[in-house]
Amino acid sequence: MPAYAYLKKKFIPLGEAKFGVMTNFAHYGTGVFEGIRGNWNKEHKQLYLFRLKEHYERLMNGCRVLSIDLPYTLDELCQLTIKLAAKSQLKEDAYVRPVAYKSSEALGVRLHNLESDFLSFIFPWGPYFDTDRARCCVSSWRFPTEIPRAKLTGLYITNALAKSEAVGNGLDEAIMLTPGGYVAEGSGENIFLVVDGKLVTPPASDGILIGITRDTVMKLAKNELGIETVERHVNRIELYNAEECFLTGTAAHITPVAEIDRRKIDGGEIGKVTRKLQKLYSDVILGKNKKYSDWCTPVYKK
Ligand SMILES: Cc1ncc(COP(=O)(O)O)c(C=O)c1O
Repeated sequence: MPAYAYLKKKFIPLGEAKFGVMTNFAHYGTGVFEGIRGNWNKEHKQLYLFRLKEHYERLMNGCRVLSIDLPYTLDELCQLTIKLAAKSQLKEDAYVRPVAYKSSEALGVRLHNLESDFLSFIFPWGPYFDTDRARCCVSSWRFPTEIPRAKLTGLYITNALAKSEAVGNGLDEAIMLTPGGYVAEGSGENIFLVVDGKLVTPPASDGILIGITRDTVMKLAKNELGIETVERHVNRIELYNAEECFLTGTAAHITPVAEIDRRKIDGGEIGKVTRKLQKLYSDVILGKNKKYSDWCTPVYKK
């Protein structure tokens, strides 16, 4: 597999990237991660990294939460990622997984007196779901509050429990509720409803991860379709009566939701607004829409 890693300041084939079993972050979830898409445009013969800077800004925010002293600046992280992607020579859709982590080979539950480091790898990755519309359930697992919803590795155990519960029940994705019972997000995606022709999505104050795809969709909806997004609490019952529903995420892109808790949304079809947003989003991430080309970083020099 043409997959490459950056580990301990060296670029190496992914298969050779290993670290010690005592590494702190493997035990206590003391890491912050990102997921960045590389989208392959066949006509341009180019791999575009989507909203690179925004992903690293979010990573840096997470590092402050975990007191991880990143040995790189924002610009260096972006440049490293372009170099890593170029080394892979990938000519297909890809995914980059950067991780800033407590790298000391030292056990002990703490954040202090530990070294920090940064690793990253890229590998080919196509569609996240093996369906074009997801069947979902509201999960019996609720995510913890108090901890800010940065992409902290340790927080993802609830998401994993929720996802496996859904898949074990023959579904594609779980929708988690906040401890207060409001709709929060999927295990790896934000959620949007179409209500009275407007987009509705849970607010940041509900503790969701502030998705970069969420932000992209809100901007595209407003600028290109004249559709506003209302950020507000969403009740579980509203899910069943939504005109349309879709999930957004770097891995999942915009994935329509066909049903929730065995109730079909919009007859189980892909709704009009969802379809329009999917088309816009797909053009933007493939570098086809000049207006948003700043969001796309080309990997290969021409
Ligand atoms: C829990 C959770 N919510 C939402 C998202 C969507 O975020 P983004 O659009 O930045 O990928 C992700 C994916 O990273 C996630 O893990």
